[in-house]
Amino acid sequence: MAAVYPRVGGHKTVAAFQQHLASLGLKLPVAERPQSAAEGSVLAAPLELQGRVIGNRWCVHPMEGWDGETDGRPTEMMRRRWRNFGASGCKLIWGCEAFAIRPDGRANPRQLTHRPHDIEPLRELLHGLRQEHQASFGPSSTEDLIVGLQLTHSGRFCKPTRNDTFESRVAYRHPVLDARVGVTDDASVFRDDELPGLVEAYVAAAKTAEQVGFDFVDVKACHGYLMHEFLSGFTRPGEYGGDFEGRTRLLREVIGAIRSECPGLEIGVRLSLFDQPAFRPKPGEGDARKKGTGVPETCSVEHYPAFGARADNALKMDLTEPLALLKRLRDEHGVRLFNLTAGSPYYNPHIQRPAFYPPSDGYQPPEDPIVGCVRQIDAVRQIKQSLPDVVLVGTAYSYFQEYLPHVAEAVVKEGWVDSVGIGRLVLSDWTLPAKILRGEDYAADKKICRTFSDCTTAPRNGMISGCYPLDDYYKERPEFDLLKKVKAGK
Ligand SMILES: Cc1cc2nc3c(=O)[nH]c(=O)nc-3n(C[C@H](O)[C@H](O)[C@H](O)COP(=O)(O)O)c2cc1C
Repeated sequence: MAAVYPRVGGHKTVAAFQQHLASLGLKLPVAERPQSAAEGSVLAAPLELQGRVIGNRWCVHPMEGWDGETDGRPTEMMRRRWRNFGASGCKLIWGCEAFAIRPDGRANPRQLTHRPHDIEPLRELLHGLRQEHQASFGPSSTEDLIVGLQLTHSGRFCKPTRNDTFESRVAYRHPVLDARVGVTDDASVFRDDELPGLVEAYVAAAKTAEQVGFDFVDVKACHGYLMHEFLSGFTRPGEYGGDFEGRTRLLREVIGAIRSECPGLEIGVRLSLFDQPAFRPKPGEGDARKKGTGVPETCSVEHYPAFGARADNALKMDLTEPLALLKRLRDEHGVRLFNLTAGSPYYNPHIQRPAFYPPSDGYQPPEDPIVGCVRQIDAVRQIKQSLPDVVLVGTAYSYFQEYLPHVAEAVVKEGWVDSVGIGRLVLSDWTLPAKILRGEDYAADKKICRTFSDCTTAPRNGMISGCYPLDDYYKERPEFDLLKKVKAGK
């Protein structure tokens, strides 16, 4: 039987919430109450980035919607989401959403995609976000608003043509994941001689980003997508695999090429700081509606290819290589902006986006989801100690729900992280950071994300993403009923 964990909302006081953390042996600072900007909240303090100012300590994580046109152009749904990001009050908008550098690198047929011949729609998307920020916070408010575009190739998880068919391009043959995506031979493996073309596509997308006015590009290296997968290519032969030098080469080459072609453009990296084996529901437990508890899908966790994990046990974190990579990107490529995340939503969502209710392709959480949040936050703390001079954005805060502001305030105050990123929460309650900074009752309108995972279950079943339970916009759409049926197992 899957374990049942206490709901965060069930802790009626900060003390009860702290007691729950202590009962799990977790060390996490929690403020008594969140402060407003007027009271001098640390979350309202600016951050410096290479001579630019980021106006506060709140960040919007990239949140893809699976809702573009099939030719890669934005839609009104996308424009609305980006405007909501602008109204959030966050001063760092990280990536907005994954932007495929070329059509075959899309994670779904409706992903926002680089169209070098048609960049105006992208400019309008960005303009809408900035306009909304000004409408909410005043005409000069965009001076300390920093917006980036997240450049991606989805690698193993490419589905450029059909929602139900992977067209994977992988870094190496994987002992567990190949079967999940239907890779059966070496034809899917990126050859070394194809990589210069890939680097060119990243540079071309970065040039477009610079041209339309983004402040930075994120060279996405997380969540099992291509650039992250290369980092665990221990068995990949040749120049781009094997040792640390080889496995990190492609990422370093992409960043180096963007640096030399777009010297005025800031570069950030979103990195899965650690990883674990692929999980699946425990065989023989659960049914179609309620999946079994997550267990690793491998008889041995030794020598499992995971970046940021121990070679003798991939369930255990080892930050030696991730730290070395971050230092190298800082020292050799001048990267000063990192967004740290973990794992992958495809094969170990409980470490990546801890949730009370799993997505339809997931499993019941094998640990109290709060353990997963603290694992990420503490890993970032360790990195911050070694890299005090870069801007670090942290992830996995949405699950804290009503106590998110208390945790955010405390971890920034303690110097564990520079900026607190919000993902799922920004889909349900996009003005929460602004409300906290104004000292308002942020929970009054009951829009706090309860991690129902509908925003993941919908796209896993070929539908657009969004907050179906709490954002009325989705309640009125035909997908709302369809999703209900999917969840009911019909
Ligand atoms: C619907 C959905 C879309 C996402 N899209 C992206 C994306 O495009 N790029 C990315 O790096 N992460 C993406 N993520 C991951 C989030 O940015 C974030 O890391 C994750 O939700 C955990 O943060 P949270 O606990 O605040 O939700 C997505 C997550 C969800 C649920």
